[in-house]
Amino acid sequence: MQRAANLILVGPMGSGKSALGRLVAARLGLEFADTDRRIEKRTGVSIATIFEHEGEAGFRARERQVVAELCAGRDRVIATGGGVVLDAANRACLRASGVVVHLHVDVETQLARLARDRSRPLLEDPDRRGVLERLAAERAPLYAEVADLQIDVAACSVERACERLFHLL
Ligand code: S3P
Repeated sequence: MQRAANLILVGPMGSGKSALGRLVAARLGLEFADTDRRIEKRTGVSIATIFEHEGEAGFRARERQVVAELCAGRDRVIATGGGVVLDAANRACLRASGVVVHLHVDVETQLARLARDRSRPLLEDPDRRGVLERLAAERAPLYAEVADLQIDVAACSVERACERLFHLL
């Protein structure tokens, strides 16, 4: 692995950033941090509740603050929320803070993995496929802009994704 402060995972909902991040951190003996869980811990409420009371803009402001804090540290594996790349300040911060890995996944896999999930406010729309396709199209260039490496995690166990990642580092 090249010398860098942090290892940052970006990618859409259902790409497995948190599960992979936890495993990679354990294998490397680094601390694991998850931006969404950190926001929930700090506020004492769920991401869905933050969206409900403060709107997406309120959530994004909280996300920006947590990203800035985590990026200022080092020696962590950081799993981010799928929309973290929407913000230019986040993108600059992530790029400057370490190696950014984009977990690429197709919409079919996302739909299957998130089928029973009710915790993502952006997926409350009955047309989940439409939402995921729109987000993928909007965000693809932003993931590409921020990422040093990309791994395809469709139809891939977390163990296999970890192997693929270590192969590239
Ligand atoms: C979001 C993804 C979620 C969470 C929030 C918004 C997004 O994180 O940050 O619901 O904009 O794609 P995960 O990618 O961990 O699901």
